[in-house]
Order: sequence, then structure tokens, then C-alpha cells
Amino acid sequence: MNDATGQRGRFITFEGIDGAGKSTHIDAVAEVLGARGVALALTREPGGTPFGEALREVVLSQAMTPEAETLLLFAARAEHLAQVIRPALAAGRWVLCDRFTDATFAYQAGGRRMDEQRVAQLEAWVHPDLQPDLTILFDVAPDVAAKRVAHRGENSPDLDRFEVEPAAFFEAVRAMYLKRAAADPARILVIDSQRAPEVVHGQLVEFMRRWNA
Ligand SMILES: Nc1ncnc2c1ncn2[C@@H]1O[C@H](COP(=O)(O)OP(=O)(O)O)[C@@H](O)[C@H]1O
Ligand SMILES: [Mg+2]
Repeated sequence: MNDATGQRGRFITFEGIDGAGKSTHIDAVAEVLGARGVALALTREPGGTPFGEALREVVLSQAMTPEAETLLLFAARAEHLAQVIRPALAAGRWVLCDRFTDATFAYQAGGRRMDEQRVAQLEAWVHPDLQPDLTILFDVAPDVAAKRVAHRGENSPDLDRFEVEPAAFFEAVRAMYLKRAAADPARILVIDSQRAPEVVHGQLVEFMRRWNA
């Protein structure tokens, strides 16, 4: 089943290191699209299904090899695609997803030094036929992001397995994100997320008003 225009929905992903502004700005995009009458599904990774949320807890808390971590992320993703993303797109809804496969390249290949080809193989297995129509990459220096997260997390001092990583880890994550953006500029929009939130918001709203996949 498709929407009134007979089209599948658009798949938009939000990427960037923790504290980059994904959660802050996903609502702004939802607002612009909602005003256009677009039916939306908002979701996130890791997670998006009960199974995926359970795996998220494990990935964020249990020590494991980068290989196990990568496989768990793709297991959660396979379920997410089957239960949420593909059905929504097929029904004509637009899916806004907080992190997707670019994050696995950035964190597990970039940050954890997994072989990039291994991640590419899993991507080709789990979603050979589907890529985001648009990826918004919120780019920010790790020290700036860390300050924001510290501020945000004032009342919850427990850090997950990624948040305890040193700055060099997040530099590697950021570098992999930027490398992917440079390789696929038609899909990945890089937003300078170091500017004030209103400025980022303005650029994003302006871009989305004109965006037509
Ligand atoms: N451009 C910005 N300038 C300053 N602070 C920001 C900006 N964007 C987001 N923040 C703040 O930084 C924190 C982390 O942002 P958030 O949207 O939760 O990031 P993410 O979802 O990417 O981890 C929040 O407290 C948010 O209010
Ligand atoms: Mg967030």
C-alpha cells in the first residue's frame, strides 16, 4: 500500500556523535514535514523494536568484542527494518531515524577499528536494496559535544560503553562520518552543528522546505 501519490515514503536518517544535536533537530524536521501533510514515523537505532531496545541495553552495557557489537547492531537493524522501517515506507510514511548504518561504519569501523569491508558486507546482507534517501550529519568537534552531553546528563552520571571512550575515539568516529559524507554528498548533508541551535535549526528548516527526493 502506498500514499495518495502512490509512492513509497522517504527514508531520512540523522547522524553524528553524541551531543551533536540529532535529538534536538529531528523534531524540527518532523514539524516542517508535518506542515506539508507528510505522514511520519520517528524511530531510532540501536532500538526501534522491543527486541532492538533489549539489544541496545546489552550493547551499551556489556563488554564485548567489536565483532560481537557489530553483529548485534545489525541483528537489531534487521528486525527494525522488517518490523518498522520497511512497512512504514511501503505504506507511504516517511521514516525519520535517529542513527542507522552510517553509525555502524562510524563507531564500529571508525571508532572500534573494525574492518570497514566487514561492515559493508553486513550492510549488503541486511539491506542490499535500501539506503536512506537523505542523511543529515550533525558535525561537531568531540570536545564541544562532550561539554553538551555533560550538561545534558547532569542528573544521570552513569556513562554507557561509548560515553566512556576517550576523545580520540570520537575523533575517529567523526572522521569516518565525514569520509562517508565526502564520498556520497548527494545523500549526506553535513550540518555545521557547532553553531547556535537557532542557526542550525534555520538552516535545516530552509533545506527541508526545498528538499524533494
Ligand atoms: N547547536 C547547538 N548548540 C548548543 N547546544 C546544543 C546544540 N544542539 C544541541 N545542543 C544541546 O546539546 C545537548 C545534546 O544535544 P542532542 O540533540 O541531545 O544531541 P544528540 O541527540 O546528537 O546526542 C542538548 O542538551 C542540546 O540542547
Ligand atoms: Mg539523541
